[in-house]
Amino acid sequence: MENIAQIDEIYDNRFQNLDPKEILNHFLEEFKGNIALATSFGAEDQVLTHMVCSIDPKCEIFTLDTGRLPEETYRVWERTERRYGIKIVPYYPEREAVEELVLKQGINGFYESIEKRKECCRVRKIEPLKRALKDKRAWITGLRREQSVTRVEAKAIEHDETFGLLKLNPLFGWSTEDVWAYIKAHNIPYNELHEKGYPSIGCEPCTRAVKEGEDIRSGRWWWESPEHKECGLHIKKEKI
Ligand code: ADX
Ligand code: SF4
Repeated sequence: MENIAQIDEIYDNRFQNLDPKEILNHFLEEFKGNIALATSFGAEDQVLTHMVCSIDPKCEIFTLDTGRLPEETYRVWERTERRYGIKIVPYYPEREAVEELVLKQGINGFYESIEKRKECCRVRKIEPLKRALKDKRAWITGLRREQSVTRVEAKAIEHDETFGLLKLNPLFGWSTEDVWAYIKAHNIPYNELHEKGYPSIGCEPCTRAVKEGEDIRSGRWWWESPEHKECGLHIKKEKI
């Protein structure tokens, strides 16, 4: 039986140089019924939704609706379902946990400290993600190396130690230009906010537009330093 390091090496040799569609082709078949795409309806996720639907339209595509998303995200959600004839599976935070959170830290308490911000992300994103990934063997994300200092080591296939399954990042090596060229070539629906200076889109109160030339994720949790800008969805276990 191979250990994790050996399995990593096998995966690296086999998949690091394949294009995203070949990676998806392989894993959507291998893990049929136990694999899902996580979408926040960002540009990368729209590319992956298009690819996944062209391979297996029955593959689960889910989203974590924090309750604080911008209206534009709900609009592209609706357009995506119509375009591909699919239903995106929504996961919501636990009602009692949200009630407790808001009572404890206030409706916008997350601006006050990193701890409060992480607590909000834990209630509104991490707990629902755990439920979404229960019983799955692999999840697909739109992570790219170019996105931030916290993601430069992203690989096509990783062991997700935090959530205990395989994590596929088929676009890990794509540039922003690659993403947009694909969207335009296939006329894929995208979030209108991308045209208003938002390269990366999360919750409405925690996302703002960036200026030309600024870092892609500088509009996310803009009051925090770059190495803190992860909400827990993509943090290595030892760093949580
Ligand atoms: S985040 O952790 O900072 O919010 P980011 O917005 O860059 O992540 O998105 C990276 C990937 O995480 C997306 O491509 C998507 O696969 C997944 N993701 C992020 N937010 C959500 C969400 N609300 N629902 C489902 N998947 C998400
Ligand atoms: Fe809460 Fe902001 Fe995290 Fe959304 S991104 S869950 S509003 S702290």
